[in-house]
Amino acid sequence: MAILDKHKILETNATLLLIFSFLVVTIGGLVQIVPLFYLENTIEKVEGMRPYTPLELTGREIYIREGCYVCHSQMIRPMRDEVERYGHYSLAAESMYDHPFQWGSKRTGPDLARVGLRYSDEWHVDHLRDPQSVVPESVMPKYGFLERRMIEGEHVQDLMVAHRRVGVPYSDAMIAHAAADFRAQTDPFGDFDGLLERYGEDSVQVRNFDGQPGISEADALVAYLQMLGTLVDFSTFTPDASR
Ligand code: HEC
Repeated sequence: MAILDKHKILETNATLLLIFSFLVVTIGGLVQIVPLFYLENTIEKVEGMRPYTPLELTGREIYIREGCYVCHSQMIRPMRDEVERYGHYSLAAESMYDHPFQWGSKRTGPDLARVGLRYSDEWHVDHLRDPQSVVPESVMPKYGFLERRMIEGEHVQDLMVAHRRVGVPYSDAMIAHAAADFRAQTDPFGDFDGLLERYGEDSVQVRNFDGQPGISEADALVAYLQMLGTLVDFSTFTPDASR
């Protein structure tokens, strides 16, 4: 009965109970968190990851502003049904330049981590304008106003500086050419060599995403959606953890 007596001391002394609860929660927390810093698959680097281009970064800001994350996650879990539906499970390194990350836990709509290049630009523009026109049973709201809001990219340089402060490796050249690169990505007839040189020949898509003259918020958002999950080439990927 001695142990019960001791327990009674704990239960009747609020301060002591608080201290012991704190200790237990701390140990439990550490046991969960510390291994993540050492497990190979949570810290491995992967080929192909690069910071967002100015246009994609702007699209990402619009995605956050419009609360797309309220209905869409961007994290494919390593379960069979998810992998069969969406593709390779998400790697931690794939969100290394996401501030804040967009993993999410609510899926009213499908996961978007690998939606890039799954549909055409026209499909995205139609779908954003009127989701029910392409998916009749959709409950997604209409975002047609995005294609009427024209943007110049005047804030994107500041945005990139902010992201650099939290660790995204934007070079001085990337920051200096922010506004020019922003415009270059939507003009397939213009000079976009510098953009490709700075961000990567193979991974940057240069198009008039919304098919209309000028740069609209829809251009930026579709540029962002079309690159999601396209950077890492999984045909050549071997997880470190399985070596
Ligand atoms: C109220 C919840 C809701 C919000 C908010 C929402 N969506 Fe959706 N979304 C859905 C649903 C449901 C679907 C599935 C039906 C469809 O395709 O329209 C969907 C489908 C999609 C798809 C197609 C995915 C696929 O693999 O077929 C894309 C892309 C998409 N949404 C992008 C967005 C973007 C970008 C925003 C923010 C501007 C957004 N959604 C906001 C509910 C939402």
